[in-house]
Amino acid sequence: MQAEEYNRRGKELVDYITQYLSSIRERRVIPDVKPGYMKELLPDTAPSDAEDWESIFNDIEKVIMPGVVHWQSPHMHAYYPSLTSWPSMLGDMLADAINCVGFTWASSPACTELEMNMLDWLCKALGLPSFFLHHHPDSRGGGVLQSTVSESTLVALLAARKDKILQLRTELDQDVDDSVLNSRLVAYASDQAHSSVEKAGLISLVKIRFLPTDEQLSLRGDTLRQAIQEDMARGLVPFMLCATLGSTGVCAFDSLSELGPVCSEEGVWLHVDAAYAGSAYVCPELRWSLEGIEFAHSFVFNPAKWMMVHFDCTAFWVKDKYKLQQTFTVDPVYLRHENSQAATDYMNWQIPLSRRFRSIKLWFVLRSFGLKNLQAHIRHVSGNDVTQELLRRLTRSGSMYLIPADIHNKRIIRFTVTSQFTTAEDILKDWRHNILSVCLRSDLHDGITNVQDPVMKLHRCVVEIKMMARFEDGYGLIHEY
Ligand SMILES: Cc1ncc(COP(=O)(O)O)c(C=O)c1O
Repeated sequence: MQAEEYNRRGKELVDYITQYLSSIRERRVIPDVKPGYMKELLPDTAPSDAEDWESIFNDIEKVIMPGVVHWQSPHMHAYYPSLTSWPSMLGDMLADAINCVGFTWASSPACTELEMNMLDWLCKALGLPSFFLHHHPDSRGGGVLQSTVSESTLVALLAARKDKILQLRTELDQDVDDSVLNSRLVAYASDQAHSSVEKAGLISLVKIRFLPTDEQLSLRGDTLRQAIQEDMARGLVPFMLCATLGSTGVCAFDSLSELGPVCSEEGVWLHVDAAYAGSAYVCPELRWSLEGIEFAHSFVFNPAKWMMVHFDCTAFWVKDKYKLQQTFTVDPVYLRHENSQAATDYMNWQIPLSRRFRSIKLWFVLRSFGLKNLQAHIRHVSGNDVTQELLRRLTRSGSMYLIPADIHNKRIIRFTVTSQFTTAEDILKDWRHNILSVCLRSDLHDGITNVQDPVMKLHRCVVEIKMMARFEDGYGLIHEY
């Protein structure tokens, strides 16, 4: 393919993408295929002669689309939102064309500098502490784009581990192997934490204790303090807590305001995983769960989930970049450059060497929407009005009675078991026939032009019902949905 054909075919492909996303609700969300379906549709080997674009293009519908789960469909209610947007896709189109590999400042200065500035923009937009800023007179910190939250949590754990091992080495004043010190370390997370925390422990060979949460599924300060005391009495060295703001299961929030001071007193690195809910902090009125963030050593969230910057784009900040660099810096002669001292070399902030120009799509999205429209998008999704309207519909037939409550300015629907005659079957019937069927039939989607919005609204309403539907062992029962 030459430039002229690329230009023509590129426009055709943009037409196809526009048509695909604009008519996506007409497609079945889940593919009807069995494992290995593609083997039948593809030749056994790569073609030895060049094929024309026409036949390649035609195979998109024949080979790829039958096996696609349409994540952008308004009928997609599984996993979590993974939104995209037109400016975001344009950003990656440009980044793919530039295709620089920005491991050091010198390997493509614009790649590093746009990323630094975008992470500062985001930090301010979310109301995070100024010690996370690159460009601030008192800051030793900064932000970086990683591929995933899982990778960021591992990076935070490795940095916290290195820091604690260096500290122990100084205190011990004797030559002890790192592996011996590593075996004494222990980290913490709540029993609601994402599996990526467990994976970080598996990879780094450090013990992680998953601590019990309260009735709001929130990890509390006293629980952490007690665990730390128990572990220290056993000769272990607590070194990190991964607190979750917006857990995967029910969007629960650990109590940062209680956990932060405990971490600070005990010399424990506080890493905050706000993978999904972090986007909500663009709205100042939704920042109540950030109280205590001033104690954090690192913070991560995924603009790639709810902020309409498509995957991959994970924003990760550290309070002290030198603690990251002392963990990840290698210095081969072929990567040195004359501005090494003055510039940021992101290869020392991450596990891989190579890195994509991810910040262009972030730049395009932040500018194309503006903070006001991003806030409107989040408010739209989490609006109390939607919950109130859902409540009205749930109760109008008279077959079930529910009332609302407000938690931190957020309207929720209370589902309480009040009668001594209630059985598990009654709960299931309410859930299946009354709650789920109303949610699924719901036309709360009216008037929304963005195809992702209904998914989010429904998701959050249902999550809130799930959270309140606790009785004896009933939580598990409801949770299977
Ligand atoms: C709270 C939380 N942490 C971590 C993750 C993992 O994110 P990633 O896929 O970016 O590794 C998720 C994904 O759903 C999540 O909800």
